[in-house]
Amino acid sequence: MQQIVPRLSTDQFARLARIVYEDSGIFLAESKHGLLTARINSRLRALGLGDYAGYCEFLDGPGGAAERRRLLVAITTNVTAFFREAHHFALLAETILPPLIARAKSGGRVRLWSSACSSGEEAYSIAMIVLERFPEAARYDFRILATDIDPEMIARAKQGEYDGPALRGLSENRRTKFFTEIGGRFHTRAVLKKLLCFGELNLHGDWPFSRRFDVIFCRNVVIYFDIPTRQRLWKRFAELLYPEGYLMIGHSERIDGPAAARFRSVGTTAYQVVPATT
Ligand SMILES: C[S@@+](CC[C@H](N)C(=O)[O-])C[C@H]1O[C@@H](n2cnc3c(N)ncnc32)[C@H](O)[C@@H]1O
Repeated sequence: MQQIVPRLSTDQFARLARIVYEDSGIFLAESKHGLLTARINSRLRALGLGDYAGYCEFLDGPGGAAERRRLLVAITTNVTAFFREAHHFALLAETILPPLIARAKSGGRVRLWSSACSSGEEAYSIAMIVLERFPEAARYDFRILATDIDPEMIARAKQGEYDGPALRGLSENRRTKFFTEIGGRFHTRAVLKKLLCFGELNLHGDWPFSRRFDVIFCRNVVIYFDIPTRQRLWKRFAELLYPEGYLMIGHSERIDGPAAARFRSVGTTAYQVVPATT
């Protein structure tokens, strides 16, 4: 028999939306009531709870901290693709990488960051472009960090196995060169993984970095944030990038707020840091 779950009340929605916002910066407008309901129904089923009041109580109980993380996993949207927004990869190959490769070859350090990498396609795409231009990159101090708030996505990214529609966007040539097919699934080769370091990181939280980055990809994530969270992130990126470092954002995103003056456009949704004016 179908279990009848009472509607998520306005108060319960507000409470859960506040938790999601505090923990991730993801802003759920009231229009997302249906989305939140659909996403937490799976949590209710997993926990054997019959209604939303019980779920809210559970979040306050001993298992609450762990459940807050699962709530986030349930609410995040992880859509991604290899070579999504191809213009960024062309800019990387043609303009951004040549001086970075020269620096690495002369003993310098180069760091790129895929900062909301989902299941890894963005980070592996960056790595493929790097290796096409600089096949011996892993022998130098040249690395790509790939992070996401969602531990399940990071586990999948680390695994680096793809099939079906996930392979769209990968040319036959790149599939052959960088992947090994095992039982219909395509496994990323060690040569890609050597360049990459995956980990969990909340863009809305503290960051563990002591040194700067040359390039940051932060694509299709600030659309889920509210304006203050988004603008704070632009400021943090401006401070974290080297002078003249690059920031790539998603096709429907824009750099706004006080930090906008720290970036100049160098292509479609691609920006370069400019020095701060005093
Ligand atoms: C739509 S995907 C974008 C993936 C990739 N950047 C792309 O453009 O194809 C958004 C990703 O942002 C992540 N995300 C959401 N809030 C985040 C936060 N506060 N910190 C880090 N990642 C976050 C989600 O887990 C999800 O994997």
